[in-house]
Amino acid sequence: MEKKSIEQRARLMLDGVIIEPDTAEILSSLKEYSNRTFVHSLNVAFISIQIGLDWGFDESRIVNLAKGAVLHDIGKIKIPLSILEKKDALTEEEFARIRLHPVYGYELARKRGYGSPVLDIILHHHEHIDGSGYPDGHKVTGLSLETQIVSVVDTWDAMTSTRSYKPELSGQDAMLELADFTDSFYNTEAVRGLRNVTDK
Ligand SMILES: [Fe+2]
Repeated sequence: MEKKSIEQRARLMLDGVIIEPDTAEILSSLKEYSNRTFVHSLNVAFISIQIGLDWGFDESRIVNLAKGAVLHDIGKIKIPLSILEKKDALTEEEFARIRLHPVYGYELARKRGYGSPVLDIILHHHEHIDGSGYPDGHKVTGLSLETQIVSVVDTWDAMTSTRSYKPELSGQDAMLELADFTDSFYNTEAVRGLRNVTDK
């Protein structure tokens, strides 16, 4: 499929997912709480869907990927803004609090009735394939491919976005940094998939 048409299809699929009532309601709370996190979530979903399309995932798989991606950081709603928007480096305690956001997000989405493919992405998007991530320190065997896609895209988008405490990297520089952690933190195929859809 042409890159342009992948982008167009991804946009349509994302639009379809974010108008679904539960998702729309959760996202509107997120937007109100932290617009930066809301925009990041849309970016992560848009790129993740493109990878799924590029790989020929079927529609239901892509819809779950899109839901998990767009809701992956929803638990940040429970993190005080004084920590979430802090301009300086975080203290150990603040970082420990931030590390709870996948669990908070999982609980929130579980109560809304989202299925396990979506919950898995939310709970495990900060896990690394060598088991060094959080909250559970899951090795690759415990992580869905969809979760591993969102993990890579999340990191790349965070590195390329302007953040208060550090300058953003270009897409290529971020890719080089990701490459350093491929096979330890990130799934090689997912990194390659990301490169395919973001290479201009
Ligand atoms: Fe996150």
